[in-house]
Amino acid sequence: MHRFERKQNIFRNKDALNESYQPDRIEERDEEIEEYMEALQPVVDGWEPNNIFIYGNTGVGKTAVTDYLLERLQKDVSSYDDLELSVISLNCKTLNSSYQVAVELVNELRPTGREISSTGYPQQTVFKKLYEELEAIGGTILIALDEIDSIGDRDELLYELPRARANGKLESTKVGVVGISNDFKFREQLDPRVQDTLCEREIQFPPYEAPELENILESRAEIAIVDGAIEQGVLNFCAALAARDSGSARQALDLLRLAGEIAENREANHIERAHVETARSQLEQERVEEGMRELTPHGRLALLAVASRSAKEETPCRGRDIYTEYVTLCESSGSEPLTQRSVHNHLSDLRMLGILSASENRSGSRGNYYSYELDVPFSSAVEAMADVLRLDSEIDTIRRMAAINDVV
Ligand SMILES: Nc1ncnc2c1ncn2[C@@H]1O[C@H](COP(=O)(O)OP(=O)(O)O)[C@@H](O)[C@H]1O
Ligand SMILES: [Mg+2]
Repeated sequence: MHRFERKQNIFRNKDALNESYQPDRIEERDEEIEEYMEALQPVVDGWEPNNIFIYGNTGVGKTAVTDYLLERLQKDVSSYDDLELSVISLNCKTLNSSYQVAVELVNELRPTGREISSTGYPQQTVFKKLYEELEAIGGTILIALDEIDSIGDRDELLYELPRARANGKLESTKVGVVGISNDFKFREQLDPRVQDTLCEREIQFPPYEAPELENILESRAEIAIVDGAIEQGVLNFCAALAARDSGSARQALDLLRLAGEIAENREANHIERAHVETARSQLEQERVEEGMRELTPHGRLALLAVASRSAKEETPCRGRDIYTEYVTLCESSGSEPLTQRSVHNHLSDLRMLGILSASENRSGSRGNYYSYELDVPFSSAVEAMADVLRLDSEIDTIRRMAAINDVV
């Protein structure tokens, strides 16, 4: 008989290891916090806010520090009767243009039932509606746009908003934009005029080093994990792995949570190093699968071409032979093949993502060339492509070929 039973020998508060958990204390970011506070100071003094640009890789505390400081700021400002501060936070991850961000902002500010639709208005109309809503609130308004890099080069709003007051679009309201980006290149892509205004103040969040990650893990483990349920050296190991790879606190916390789940499933009383090792390879696998799902259509076809070669036991295989296979798949899927050179670039990308591996061959006078093979299990590559490509009969053939050759 199946039965649910409570298991709590490892976790005391597992939610504290989740992405959405807001820590009470921020570790190891004193310098960045100081710089950030200085950039926000005009708000407290009653002046026009600075526009602030925060950047750094994922998992380095940009969102956590921003949430923490903006909350603090609202609390502290509330003791001044002559200040009226509103904070609007928006994660732009799923929005890929200024237009969509502006629509979201309008809708966030409007009461339910008065939302506008996300298509159909000219961009300037949406901006105008946004200004109307901002004017209606008045005072000082900080607009925090997280993961702003996802709007790409459709960045007009970032030109408009920070200058709205100077351009007479807003009369009584003081608006400041806090833009947060996981991608520093985003800043360089921006129109120089946008750079000047949006990036009045820039704060970089560098990757964490191992000892910093260990402190972050320790303070979180105190809340999340039962006393004594972590073996000596485990936090240090998680911190070292994450520091070596990305310097991301998110990665370190993910490792710890998954290691804890593995310990729990194995009915262990402690999280051990071996659990962390298993967790690491599972996360690695997930990351690669994620990478496969996010490929562009031609990246997928290039990958499927390698899988097809692999099913015939013909890998490692050089670029031009993969190209032949790729062209055949393009014809079956009714898409125009890219040039051999572009496909070559796709193969390099797949290698960077850890989906393919390459070995260099020497061919005498004609220079060196690479041979590629799958660096992920054949079946996971094919499953992932079967989900996203409409090539059912080709994929069936590849699977059948693999079965004949015992490729798994
Ligand atoms: N300095 C820190 N102190 C405590 N927790 C942190 C710190 N930096 C990051 N974290 C935690 O790590 C995770 C990732 O941080 P986050 O702020 O979301 O990164 P980013 O926004 O830079 O991608 C979150 O769970 C966050 O609470
Ligand atoms: Mg973030």
